Amino acid sequence: MDEAIFVGGGGAQYAEKQYLSLKYANRHGLIAGATGTGKTVTLQILAEGFSAAGVPVFLSDVKGDLSGLAAAGSAAAKLHAPFTERAAKIGFDDYTYAAFPVTFWDLYGQQGHPVRTTVAEMGPLLISRLLELSEAQEGILNIAFRLADEQGLPLLDLKDLQALLVWVGENRADLSLRYGNISVQSVGAIQRRLLVLENQGGAQLFGEPALALADLMRTGADGRGQINILAADTLMASPRLYATFLLWLLSELFEELPEVGDPDKPRLVFFFDEAHLLFDDAPKALVDKVEQVARLIRSKGVGVYFVTQNPDDIPEDILGQLGNRVQHALRAFTARDRKALRMAAETYRENPDFDTEAAIREVGVGEAVTSMLQKKGVPGVVQRTLIRPPSSQLGPLEAAARAALIAASDLGARYAQPVDRVSAYEMLKARADTAAQAAEAAEARQDDVSATEREYSAGRRYSGTRVGRSTSQSKRTAPSRRAEDDSFGEAMGRMVMKELSGTTGRRIVRGILGGLFRAR
Ligand SMILES: Nc1ncnc2c1ncn2[C@@H]1O[C@H](COP(=O)(O)OP(=O)(O)OP(=O)(O)O)[C@@H](O)[C@H]1O
Ligand SMILES: [Mg+2]
Repeated sequence: MDEAIFVGGGGAQYAEKQYLSLKYANRHGLIAGATGTGKTVTLQILAEGFSAAGVPVFLSDVKGDLSGLAAAGSAAAKLHAPFTERAAKIGFDDYTYAAFPVTFWDLYGQQGHPVRTTVAEMGPLLISRLLELSEAQEGILNIAFRLADEQGLPLLDLKDLQALLVWVGENRADLSLRYGNISVQSVGAIQRRLLVLENQGGAQLFGEPALALADLMRTGADGRGQINILAADTLMASPRLYATFLLWLLSELFEELPEVGDPDKPRLVFFFDEAHLLFDDAPKALVDKVEQVARLIRSKGVGVYFVTQNPDDIPEDILGQLGNRVQHALRAFTARDRKALRMAAETYRENPDFDTEAAIREVGVGEAVTSMLQKKGVPGVVQRTLIRPPSSQLGPLEAAARAALIAASDLGARYAQPVDRVSAYEMLKARADTAAQAAEAAEARQDDVSATEREYSAGRRYSGTRVGRSTSQSKRTAPSRRAEDDSFGEAMGRMVMKELSGTTGRRIVRGILGGLFRAR
């Protein structure tokens, strides 16, 4: 038999061992079931199994209880007796307690290494989704990204995007001629959405050092796969941020990893908890993209496992691609429940020993209707499986133990300190500064001219000598301004003003600075 992960016992008296084959583990999976039926423990034992088989794992920890993977279970624990009983029932003879290698991550940098990405990497589609933009607003965001590209303005953090939007707003008259109508209302709406995102802690997500995917795909010296746990308890308060971040990570894996065909075991397994958040009023274009990523990421050796309460939370095209399934109990209170239950049952390969629909209704806690891909990737006959007990600690890791693990991790040095290198914000600000100086210099010249004029008239009255006096006078009153005249700064300023053509340089310059300060 191929290498496989032991999942639990099926058949009569739960004596037939059920496995998830590593060879087909990249053909994705589903963990579903009503609340309290055992989804999280199933995720926990699968993560343990993958890690033990040398497969790194990424998972989001919605309630904080998966952090227990980092500690061994204990004979002193309350559930020690039921766990050993369960193990005996399914013939799990070598059941032992063990801790697993865990790396903690946290968008907010509190409960793990900070996870960052850049605005440019996330791209206009996902950022539009994140900001819940209308189609018109999304169009403007696309233009902004394109401009940043054309002008060599790196978009790293939210400041960069804010500065760019101010710039777009100030130049909308000219830009509209090239790209179509850019309304001040739409730009303003995007800016307001950015503020909301910032208030949700989104500013911390964007910046550098950006997450290197290789850091999620590590195996330890002992050959076990690293389990990457994303703290998602706080993050869940911003469901859109949560879902978009995970979707970004998935598409990043898809775009960055090389093709490996059908490997003996996955290179990474990605568990997407509360997966319904991904699809809640998602536009068709986005669902199509998820469907495409799921279909193609397989050949990059990445298995994606969606975790959700009800399988009908997941669009049919995507559900159809989830080959390995653990269906915990579903409720059947309402007509709608019953319909969902029937539909869930229909997607399984029937077992003559029992009725699938009835089984999904009846299975107990920590028990499930399972179907794993078998030889040639054919779905196995559905089983009633008692899921194995976890080897690691059930429930959250103690805060001190967690802090100690984070402090000891060699990734801390790489990610702890944010780096703010020169990017769009700084570059636009520098442009604005030079343009402001140039505008001032121009104004100074204007002043000089009028001073000259005044002096000329005055001079006529008093001395009658025109040129000599006026020149020396103005040199005394404004030496610094005059010194600017041929400076590089002014040449730059002229260039910038040309670039910002259409309105007077001075007004645009004030606008850029004003906008920046308002946005901060
Ligand atoms: N495989 C298992 N072995 C032993 N006990 C289990 C198993 N699965 C579930 N249990 C027991 O059932 C409890 C609830 O399971 P779990 O937390 O996984 O449910 P859940 O479906 O994730 O619930 P929620 O939707 O509330 O997150 C566990 O705390 C544990 O006591
Ligand atoms: Mg749970």
